[in-house]
Amino acid sequence: MSIQFNQVNKFYGDTQVLHDVSFQCEKGDTLVLLGPSGAGKSSLLRILNLLENANSGTMSVTDMSFDFAKGVTEKHGLELRKKVGMVFQQYNLWPHMTVMENLIEAPVRVAGLSKIAAKQEAKKILDMLQLSDKMDAWPLQLSGGQQQRVAIARALMMKPEVLLFDEPTAALDPEITSQVAKVINDLSQTGITQIVVTHEVDFARKVASHVLYLEQGKVVEYGSNDVFTNPSTRNFADYLNH
Ligand SMILES: Nc1ncnc2c1ncn2[C@@H]1O[C@H](COP(=O)(O)OP(=O)(O)OP(=O)(O)O)[C@@H](O)[C@H]1O
Ligand SMILES: [Mg+2]
Repeated sequence: MSIQFNQVNKFYGDTQVLHDVSFQCEKGDTLVLLGPSGAGKSSLLRILNLLENANSGTMSVTDMSFDFAKGVTEKHGLELRKKVGMVFQQYNLWPHMTVMENLIEAPVRVAGLSKIAAKQEAKKILDMLQLSDKMDAWPLQLSGGQQQRVAIARALMMKPEVLLFDEPTAALDPEITSQVAKVINDLSQTGITQIVVTHEVDFARKVASHVLYLEQGKVVEYGSNDVFTNPSTRNFADYLNH
C-alpha cells in the first residue's frame, strides 16, 4: 500500500475540519479529492506531506508511518517531503530563473546532485512533458499551461513516489486542462501515486482511479472511478449534477 490514512482528525482551534478520515491508495493510483469549498481538501493535502500536523489518527506514506496522537516532528516532515512532491494552483516558479534553472535548483542545492547530472535528468523530464524547446525560456514567457507543466517537471526532478496537486487546472482553459490530465495519466503508468484536488468534475473523471468526496470534513463517498456513474450517496449525486 502506498498511502494509508486511518481515522485522521484535524482541528484549527476549536473547529474540527477533518472527522475520522480514512482511505488508502495503492502504488500508481490517482485519488481525486472532491467537495464543496471549505470541505477540508487542502487541509488533507497539507497533512499528507506534513506541512500541517493532524491531532489524531495514523498515516503511512510509502515506507514511513506516523501516529499523530504521539506527535510528529519537523524532521519527519523533511524526510517525508523528499518522497512527496506538491504542485499548486499558482505555479510558484522562480521568475528570475530560466526553466532549466528552476528544474535543477533543488536537486543540486538540496539533494547534492551534480549540475551535469541534474541537467541530464531535466532534459529527460522536459522531453516527456513536451517542453524541450522551452528549456532556456523565462517563466513569464510561457503560457499558463506551459508554466503548470514546468511546475510538474520541477516536482518530478526530486523523483517523488507520491505527487500531490491542489487545483492544478484552476487557472487553465479547457484544452490546457486536458494536457494536464494526460500528464497525470502518463505519470500513473510510471507507478507514481497521485492525489489531486479539483473542482472540475470532467477533469476528475478523466484522471481518477479512485474518488474521495468530502463534506464539512467528513467522507461522504469513497470508491473507484465507477462512483461517477453510480454514486452511492444522494449528496455525491447532487454534487455531480450541480
Ligand atoms: N490555517 C488555518 N487556520 C484556521 N482555519 C483554517 C486554516 N486553514 C483552513 N482553515 C479552515 O478549515 C476548513 C477547511 O479548509 P480547506 O482549505 O481545507 O478547504 P478546501 O476544501 O480546500 O476549500 P476550497 O475548495 O475553497 O479550497 C475551512 O473552514 C477553513 O476556513
Ligand atoms: Mg483548497
